[in-house]
Amino acid sequence: MIPTVLFATLDERKRNTRCEAERLVYNTKTSFSSAQKDLSMETSNSIATREIIVQLRERSYPIHIGHEILSGMPELLNATGESCVHTILLYDENVAAIALRLGKSLERAEYRISSAAIPSGESSKSVERLEEIWRFLLSEHTDRSSVVIAIGGGVVGDLAGFAAATFARGIRLVQVPTTLLSQVDSSVGGKTGINLPGTKNIVGAFWQPSLVVIDTQSLTSLPQREYLSGLAEVVKYGIIMLPELFEFLEHNASRVVGRDREAMVNIVEQSCLCKASVVKEDERETSGRRAILNYGHTFAHAIESVTGYGTLLHGEAVAIGMHMAATLAMFLGRVDQGFVDRQRALLQQLELPIQFPNLSPNKLWHAMQHDKKVEMGKLRFVLPTRLGHVELVQGISQDSVIAAIAASASSEA
Ligand SMILES: NC(=O)c1ccc[n+]([C@@H]2O[C@H](COP(=O)([O-])OP(=O)(O)OC[C@H]3O[C@@H](n4cnc5c(N)ncnc54)[C@H](O)[C@@H]3O)[C@@H](O)[C@H]2O)c1
Ligand SMILES: [Zn+2]
Repeated sequence: MIPTVLFATLDERKRNTRCEAERLVYNTKTSFSSAQKDLSMETSNSIATREIIVQLRERSYPIHIGHEILSGMPELLNATGESCVHTILLYDENVAAIALRLGKSLERAEYRISSAAIPSGESSKSVERLEEIWRFLLSEHTDRSSVVIAIGGGVVGDLAGFAAATFARGIRLVQVPTTLLSQVDSSVGGKTGINLPGTKNIVGAFWQPSLVVIDTQSLTSLPQREYLSGLAEVVKYGIIMLPELFEFLEHNASRVVGRDREAMVNIVEQSCLCKASVVKEDERETSGRRAILNYGHTFAHAIESVTGYGTLLHGEAVAIGMHMAATLAMFLGRVDQGFVDRQRALLQQLELPIQFPNLSPNKLWHAMQHDKKVEMGKLRFVLPTRLGHVELVQGISQDSVIAAIAASASSEA
């Protein structure tokens, strides 16, 4: 079987054009206005707040990234230009303190506030929980001039996002992601949804937020394992399209692992730039471009299914999956051993796993056949050719995949 390349990262010339385009809409601010500072002591900090615009014509929206910026929410809401008097705070029960602080700043700015805690965990992405939210929105007299603010990780972002997408045929949504994974991935791009028993994210909608506010300070309370897991997605952006980000991680690994404020803001900003540029080109996953975000994920989904959901965090499975994907790319002559070693070294510096004991290559192969993204029985892999460049390849033989899994599992850790 001859592997076929279906899709590749933009070539260098186009990539530079893309960066120029992003820069046009990209600016940094040193602080909010003085009026804003009066609202809270928290706004004074030396790290510049960054702003990225996700360009989707009439659905374009800004992402604000900074440290201790949440109390600026009233001003940021105002700046969207659409009137809003009623905010509905739907928050993960584990970030109640963040929701409370945010609620206070909105209260001072005289917004009407409704709020509800969502039990933490994947099981909240359910029909039952969604119905509870719909009923809550109804009881709070929510209408099209109301705004849902989702505060939490990807679970609350997806659930509250889907509630906003469907209530009254769609009301505005603000994402306030509080896990690293949600800051660099799920809060940007408009995918919302819930699970059905046995099938993740099977019911949902594309519903773009009108604003994303990313405060890296909220990561302070995140368990270290969750934080490190989110770093796998950051490494992914480095491999698929941003060598500078990969190099930044290599040079600043201990600052990144130690949650240095400036390093966190930098990696979140760079990751959001990548995600925003892919989403801009393929908002609804129709052109195939968005598929590059699945680097390491075909393996990761199989690993999550074989090891039992919850054994590994998603990012941990992605790290192991990226090691397998790079090994497969090497077996196919697309990258050399140096590439595999370099990626492995970075993952290890970031304290991410690259192997899982006793994973059966055959079981993984069979699990991969059930991946949601397998189209018409054709398994596709996102594989690198060099740092910052990946291609979507199909037609890779079962033998090559199984050999790569076995080799990545036995490679020296
Ligand atoms: N919409 C998308 O594009 C997209 C992309 C990737 C993943 N997802 C979805 O995202 C979900 C995973 O998201 P996640 O990894 O953020 O998990 P999560 O939302 O379950 O959060 C992980 C854990 O961290 C806790 N938590 C959140 N913020 C915290 C904080 N600041 N301090 C302390 N604890 C905190 C939560 O209560 C939870 O226990 C999955 O459901 C996945 O399907 C969606
Ligand atoms: Zn992922």
